[in-house]
Amino acid sequence: MHRENLPMTPAAPGWTAVCAVDDIPPLGARRVARPQGMPVAVFRTADDRVFALLDRCPHKGGPLSQGIVHGDAVACPLHNWTIALVDGNARAPDEGCTPAFACRVHDGQVWLDAQELATKALDLPAPVAGPCRQQASCA
Ligand code: FES
Repeated sequence: MHRENLPMTPAAPGWTAVCAVDDIPPLGARRVARPQGMPVAVFRTADDRVFALLDRCPHKGGPLSQGIVHGDAVACPLHNWTIALVDGNARAPDEGCTPAFACRVHDGQVWLDAQELATKALDLPAPVAGPCRQQASCA
């Protein structure tokens, strides 16, 4: 279940404040670096909903944070796949998914699950230039 925009207290254990909603450009994203693993892209929709995905397109690893948000999806800047913000799934006819991260908003502040930031999708390699032969997974 996606936990976007649920009520919480700022001191809720297990959550990390990463930025203000206003720090994210409307219809754009902000990258959140992690100690290990690829960064997380935090997206803002036109109606100020906030979602978080690994900043890695399931196609060939494009930087989703540089894509344009439309509705509740983002268009990858490399080959224009459309990725759903709620679960990271590519829209048909494309296939694949990028890991989604739990995300909450309280008093204009964006919070991500600290455990997920520390452990989720650490095994997915950063993309390299040239043809990619690896299939990303959402594990
Ligand atoms: S890398 Fe994202 S559409 Fe190709």
